[in-house]
Amino acid sequence: MATQNHSHDVCSHKHAFWFDIWLRRIFQSPKKIVGEYVKPGNRVADIGCGPGYFSIDMAKMVGITGQVVCIDLQMEMLEMVKKKARKHNVMDRMIFHRSEPGRINIKDTTVDFILAFYMMHETTSPEGFMREMKEMLDPDGKILVVEPRYHVNQKAYEEMLSQGNEAGLRVIDKPPKKGGRAVLFSHQ
Ligand SMILES: C[S@@+](CC[C@H](N)C(=O)[O-])C[C@H]1O[C@@H](n2cnc3c(N)ncnc32)[C@H](O)[C@@H]1O
Repeated sequence: MATQNHSHDVCSHKHAFWFDIWLRRIFQSPKKIVGEYVKPGNRVADIGCGPGYFSIDMAKMVGITGQVVCIDLQMEMLEMVKKKARKHNVMDRMIFHRSEPGRINIKDTTVDFILAFYMMHETTSPEGFMREMKEMLDPDGKILVVEPRYHVNQKAYEEMLSQGNEAGLRVIDKPPKKGGRAVLFSHQ
């Protein structure tokens, strides 16, 4: 199957089950993917959080003094995260925000780390999202963007790096073994 530069198709909440199956923990361990960036007490954002596969693990990593801002376009996804957060007893450190297709549109929120896992190719405005992510990021913060190889080819990935650059972000790493085409950004 040929890869596309950008598919703006949003992964429906009806398929959320597939993002939460136990098998995924073997191939995409949250600890291996975000563990090195998330510390106790941190404030982090999970943009395009889906059913919360990473949000819940990050909530445990940041602990009681930290915070996880869960952001998604689909209310149904945020509801699934809320349900899981209650089950895992981490609701006290969760914040939920519904974004728009081309805008995060969140105010007065600063975070130490942002994860955008398999979501950037779904937004209609990656450039705008990059700018908004930069605005949310603490001066010493980091952003990890991971894109699926089967939807995002090398050319589209490089385009995404340029968009980050234009938004005032700096590529500090292209970490391997993060489950796809990955980039770690900081402020320039
Ligand atoms: C492929 S799923 C990945 C979910 C999650 N990051 C994971 O890895 O389990 C992509 C998610 O991004 C969300 N999404 C797509 N466009 C978005 C936007 N503009 N703002 C916020 N979330 C968006 C979708 O609703 C969906 O939940």
